[in-house]
Amino acid sequence: MEYRDCLKKVSPYVPGKSEEEIKELYCLNEVYKLASNENPYGPTQKIKEATDKLLYSLYPDNYVTNLRNMLSKKYDLDKDMFLFGNGSVEIIQMLSRIMLDQGDNIITELPSFSSYFSEAKIQDSQIKTINFNDKYSFCLSEMISLIDNNTKMIYITNPNNPLGTIISKDEMLDFLKLVPSDILVVVDEAYGEFVRDNKFESAINYIKEYSNVCVLKTFSKAYGLAALRIGYIVADKSVINELEKVRVPFNVSTISQNIAQIALQDEEHMKYAVKQIHDSIDYMYDELEKRGIEYIKTQANFIMINTKMDSKKVVQELIRRGYIVRDGFPLMDTWIRVSIGTLEQMKGFTKKLCEVIL
Ligand SMILES: Cc1ncc(COP(=O)(O)O)c(C=O)c1O
Repeated sequence: MEYRDCLKKVSPYVPGKSEEEIKELYCLNEVYKLASNENPYGPTQKIKEATDKLLYSLYPDNYVTNLRNMLSKKYDLDKDMFLFGNGSVEIIQMLSRIMLDQGDNIITELPSFSSYFSEAKIQDSQIKTINFNDKYSFCLSEMISLIDNNTKMIYITNPNNPLGTIISKDEMLDFLKLVPSDILVVVDEAYGEFVRDNKFESAINYIKEYSNVCVLKTFSKAYGLAALRIGYIVADKSVINELEKVRVPFNVSTISQNIAQIALQDEEHMKYAVKQIHDSIDYMYDELEKRGIEYIKTQANFIMINTKMDSKKVVQELIRRGYIVRDGFPLMDTWIRVSIGTLEQMKGFTKKLCEVIL
């Protein structure tokens, strides 16, 4: 069989190992998965009642009407400025399909979310990147100098995954003024709800002025619904119209649509979970500082820690001790990314980290 040539450059997505795999491999009773930036507090309890009433035999609402209406009210934006995906990752795939041909290029940050890279490669497009600065943030003006006639899209992850740092409102607006209007700027705000720094502002506020700006959002993180696979994009209607052409019909299940609505109705629960995560982050800052371990201050629900050792070995040792975390980020060979769990989990993790690296 002869497959497309550009697939030779693509590797399959490697998720964090599952708790079940590690329990079996190392004969452990307790394993804590702190590898995929999920939210240990889960969604609101109110969803339990709703699942009983589901119409399992019918296809889902292809227009996602009720959730769309709620989001349109929440952001005070037209209903036709939204499109939903089987996780926001599916929308990254759709964006690549509408924008990228062979020989085109995207510009993004290094490191950043792996799907931007794999989806561009699948379209046989090139990837240009800017590196982080000494504050582990990015200077967006460097992206401007990388733009050429084949540049179709720019991805900015705000806050960045895996660094956890943000692009401020002022930096973003200065940047948007300089980007040609035929280049689509995708701001991925998967972790936006966790940001505490008031220099951050959601780029959803800029879409009316800059019709080439769109924003990715997900229910997987702050809303605790990673298992349901539901995310959305907010964009100018002209972008949504093109995305609709490549969207798989009925791509968001009824259960995901209904439960996402309930999650939105109970934002108090989301805010409670975010507050707990912040308390755990503050605990981590104290503990890491006390021990002189280098880390990056985070605006998301994960933290980068410099182990000053080969991070692959550190991850192996932590997994043996029941804590699944991630390594393997470009330019960061000694760093690990740890998703923020409950305070108890972070206490346990810190103890094991010290055993391994100190
Ligand atoms: C920056 C970023 N964007 C998008 C996603 C995808 O989220 P989902 O497909 O669960 O909505 C992730 C998941 O980790 C992420 O880190």
